Amino acid sequence: MAPKFIIRFRILMFEMWDSDEPVPRLELLKKVKGCDGILCVLTEKIDAQLLEAAGPNLKVVSTMSVGFDHLSLDELKKRGIRVGYTPDVLTDCVAELTVALLLATSRRLIEATHEAKTGGWGTWRTLWLCGHELANSTVGILGLGRIGVAIAERLKPFKVKKFIYTDVAPRPELANMIEAEYVSFDELAKQSDFLAVCCALTQETHGICNWNLFSKMKKNAIFINTSRGGVVNQEDLYEALSTGLIAGAGLDVTTPEPLPTHHPLFTLKNCVILPHIASASYTTRNAMSALAANNLLAGLRGEPMPKELKL
Ligand code: DGY
Repeated sequence: MAPKFIIRFRILMFEMWDSDEPVPRLELLKKVKGCDGILCVLTEKIDAQLLEAAGPNLKVVSTMSVGFDHLSLDELKKRGIRVGYTPDVLTDCVAELTVALLLATSRRLIEATHEAKTGGWGTWRTLWLCGHELANSTVGILGLGRIGVAIAERLKPFKVKKFIYTDVAPRPELANMIEAEYVSFDELAKQSDFLAVCCALTQETHGICNWNLFSKMKKNAIFINTSRGGVVNQEDLYEALSTGLIAGAGLDVTTPEPLPTHHPLFTLKNCVILPHIASASYTTRNAMSALAANNLLAGLRGEPMPKELKL
């Protein structure tokens, strides 16, 4: 099922954008007029302009994503529009990809396959393509939620020495599950050998991974972001990577998306960039679609949604 559709229940009809490409904005603005519900994905900006275009019938917005930075929550709240989203069903998939990206970055797998394929593979050399290992390391988590816990659970068997995290406040119920210690933002930067960003993109976290963070990190540190590109100041990250201030970065998310192919980050061997695929497994995308549809239907019926965002 293509995930993008717009529902008009008032006259018992729904309209589906039957393409994997995002619906063009002007088309969307036209189509939402008079809708009771909208099911969207993260490429659709649900802001005041769109809500105005939809008009007063709109009761529910259901996004097929755990992230909701593409939704203007204030505008939705002001209009009494309920919001559904898709937490939990993608946790395992995102955690798995995060671990894969971390290992690909720290053990330089992309560089290594490139060398093997293009003739760079000469005799065995002592320090060639050496990376950094997880055993005895300290793993830091910026923003401890379900996904952060799931990442730590998967990393533990790699013999990580210590998990640390920071958040707006300690989260003992989650931290206890992975025996993670709460530290300040600065300590997270200073102590982490691997730093995984798992926080939501909000006004408070926008650009939080900037020079201030990178300049405090270890030279061997690996920075991993599978949350949102907006939490990172990419100019500062480029500087940190290209000057050897930190060892590497693995990014599943960037600003903008897609990241233009001429972007300086693509020139760096120590930066692994994926095209926002953390939740891209068949099982998870199916589960996300079903949950988003059920949220929408429950919202339209005026019933509790399986996963409603409290505004
Ligand atoms: C989400 O659901 O917000 C994820 O970024 C999709 O991969």
